[in-house]
Amino acid sequence: GFDIGKLRAETGLVTLDSGYGNTAAYKSAITYLDGEQGILRYRGYPIEQLAERGTFLETAYLLINGELPTVDQQAAFKDEVTRHTLLHEDVKRFYDGFPRDAHPMAMLSSVVSALSTFYQDSHNPFDEEQRHLSTIRLLAKLPTIAAYAYKKAIGHPVVYPRNDLGYVENFLRMTFSVPAAEYDLDPVVVNALDKLLILHADHEQNCSTSTVRLVGSSQANMFASISAGINALWGPLHGGANQSVLEMLQGIKSSGSDVDSFIRKVKDKEDGVKLMGFGHRVYKNFDPRAQIIKAAAHDVLSALGKSDELLEIALKLEERALSDDYFVSRKLYPNVDFYTGLIYRAMGFPTSMFTVLFALGRLPGWIAQWHEMIKEPGSRIGRPRQIYTGVVEREYVPIESR
Ligand code: ACO
Repeated sequence: GFDIGKLRAETGLVTLDSGYGNTAAYKSAITYLDGEQGILRYRGYPIEQLAERGTFLETAYLLINGELPTVDQQAAFKDEVTRHTLLHEDVKRFYDGFPRDAHPMAMLSSVVSALSTFYQDSHNPFDEEQRHLSTIRLLAKLPTIAAYAYKKAIGHPVVYPRNDLGYVENFLRMTFSVPAAEYDLDPVVVNALDKLLILHADHEQNCSTSTVRLVGSSQANMFASISAGINALWGPLHGGANQSVLEMLQGIKSSGSDVDSFIRKVKDKEDGVKLMGFGHRVYKNFDPRAQIIKAAAHDVLSALGKSDELLEIALKLEERALSDDYFVSRKLYPNVDFYTGLIYRAMGFPTSMFTVLFALGRLPGWIAQWHEMIKEPGSRIGRPRQIYTGVVEREYVPIESR
């Protein structure tokens, strides 16, 4: 067969592939994605079926273990995750040190990284028992870490996890309840958030997942690798797009809701303005997640009895873009982030928390991919090559002669 390593050694050739658009860095059995046909499957199960009939914790189990859990496996998994939801009391002091207006994504990645200082036995990625424990700890604690970040931002005391509740219920209660007051969980919100988390749970080698794998390929521990993934997710071209979409919609609204002149600006690439929540490296016909989420946005808003002028603007933007040659010729369609923010907003989350919700959803995917990478026989450290474009060689010049 063809051996690229041998060819490189013999010829000195390397491939330059900007943004890794055509480079597969890994083999993976986790997520199947066909961008031309808009197909997304986790371990072979269509995303539509999982979103409709599955639960987030079950999906997490599937991604990480490869099979859907049996009744007993599901109960044991839920029980384990539930028992690890508390954070060490000292972790709370990190939040005291953060400025009040700190972005919650920065708090999330910092605290996840700090977990590796509390669980020093987890540092050897080849210790199977510790790998399992880190998996459970991350799944259990990320909602608590996220809810604490929200509480910090609004100046409220933290609310401890309550382990008789489900995963999503517990997170919503830690986020929105205040101590010594009743908090009624709305099943519409619980179900919609569970579904959104499923839709975000994995997406093969996206930027944050590749980051988790790249950091993990140096055999750094799971907390360190996933903290890096959270930072990669934060950017507006990746998970941060859900926050940017909402800011874009608000900007259009405050400037008089003129959708056409906004579209013109995008087409003219004025100040680099993009239609946020549109376009995808891999999906070239439609993003199956966006289709489910668009329907959910309508359902959730009407079930909560909320109307949102921003939803009207979003619908108008989509309609204009899908009939405009600029977007059609470039195969730009709404992606997962286009409608999620409107749902999160209706649920009561501030814009700065949107990407945190994405991170909660993507966590099982990051973990599953980290495990697959570590367990792959003969897996090597990730180390891309480069094409050097600088000065070839020159003599050192003493400072007084420069
Ligand atoms: N608005 C306007 N034009 C766009 C957009 C957009 N959202 N996306 C791509 N284009 C244009 C580019 O300017 C380029 O045009 P050109 O050929 O005239 O130069 C062409 O479409 C191809 O775009 P690329 O940037 O090469 O596409 P790439 O695959 O590198 O980027 C990305 C994909 C980052 C998602 C891009 O479409 C984008 O920036 N979208 C907006 C941000 C966003 O929604 N990100 C979320 C992605 S999904 C996720 O992470 C969950």
